[in-house]
Amino acid sequence: MLICWKKELEIGNEMIDTQHRMLVLLLRKLHIAVVNKLEHKVIMGILLEIKKFTEFHFLSEENLMAELHYPELRQHEKIHSELLSQLNIFIAKINRQLESPEDILEVIHTWVANHVVSEDMKIAQFVRESQFRPIAEDCYALYLR
Ligand SMILES: [Fe+2]
Ligand SMILES: [Fe+2]
Repeated sequence: MLICWKKELEIGNEMIDTQHRMLVLLLRKLHIAVVNKLEHKVIMGILLEIKKFTEFHFLSEENLMAELHYPELRQHEKIHSELLSQLNIFIAKINRQLESPEDILEVIHTWVANHVVSEDMKIAQFVRESQFRPIAEDCYALYLR
């Protein structure tokens, strides 16, 4: 299964969309490494990239929600922390070779697609309607594309 960036994943907030694209790129990188049966150490390295980037991305979204006084911040944070624990369990299993990286690809792909189009979409809608503005929003055009 090939993981691609697709239009439906775009939620309309440039900062979040840029980070999501990066996350999908890392998943693609993992996919390529897995199908080419690269060594365990290399796969583990990419999984660490995915884990660190996901942590960063979740924190970034949580900061954005806090800046906007987003009413469902706590619920969204809870979902993030559940997803991270799930990811950590998978990585630990793959590290001990109890699980194959192919299985995690499937899970993460479903997770990215579902979480982005349901939960993250709500943040983007809120950004559009809110009187509060994200910090550095005026710089998006200069730094993001
Ligand atoms: Fe997200
Ligand atoms: Fe999220």
